[in-house]
Amino acid sequence: MPRRILILVGHPDPAPERFCRALAEAYRDGAASAGHSVRVIDLATLDIPFLRSQEAFLHAGVPADLAPASAAIVEAEHIVLIFPLWLGTMPALLKAFLEQTMRPGLAFLYGAGPAGLPKPALAGRSARIVVTMGMPALAYRLWFRDHGIACLRRNILNFVGIKPVRETLFGSVDSASKARRDRWLAAMRKLGTRGI
Ligand SMILES: Cc1cc2nc3c(=O)[nH]c(=O)nc-3n(C[C@H](O)[C@H](O)[C@H](O)COP(=O)(O)O)c2cc1C
Repeated sequence: MPRRILILVGHPDPAPERFCRALAEAYRDGAASAGHSVRVIDLATLDIPFLRSQEAFLHAGVPADLAPASAAIVEAEHIVLIFPLWLGTMPALLKAFLEQTMRPGLAFLYGAGPAGLPKPALAGRSARIVVTMGMPALAYRLWFRDHGIACLRRNILNFVGIKPVRETLFGSVDSASKARRDRWLAAMRKLGTRGI
């Protein structure tokens, strides 16, 4: 069944040689070859201002440069977030993007859920978080308990109704051989064909 897939590349460095970009391309190629509709938004190309106040979070509209990305999130059935681990979590650029787009009224509704809890507004969508890192992926999972990714999965994506959220971690990326990187790219292509 073809899906509407949105790939968000959350690498702040626009350099094409960043491995996150190769992973995004591999996923996109796989998905397109299987007939899914795929859109890629590279956050490094957008003007993403920091959210500065609760007042703005509640009442200011999504910044103009981010409106198309915000609409793309609403239109998507599956969202793939790809980013490097920076200081244990997502880069600030991606966090700033999510603070601007995961707004009340758009991503969730204050007080509209059972017992006055927030009601998710993006239910019915799934996601995959793809993270590259310098340390071995197992070390991040076992020693650091993948806290940064758990926060993204639970506090942000699940909170607005996006589930299931699957995860793919690529560790020791900086020292990985070409053969290993090629295997990872093939794995991303395969995930893309399956649209998951
Ligand atoms: C500012 C910064 C912070 C980083 N913090 C971490 C970290 O906390 N843990 C880690 O394993 N790697 C860390 N790294 C390494 C990157 O995660 C790694 O270089 C990147 O995932 C490689 O993918 P890329 O080619 O797409 O940049 C950091 C790199 C930078 C530039």
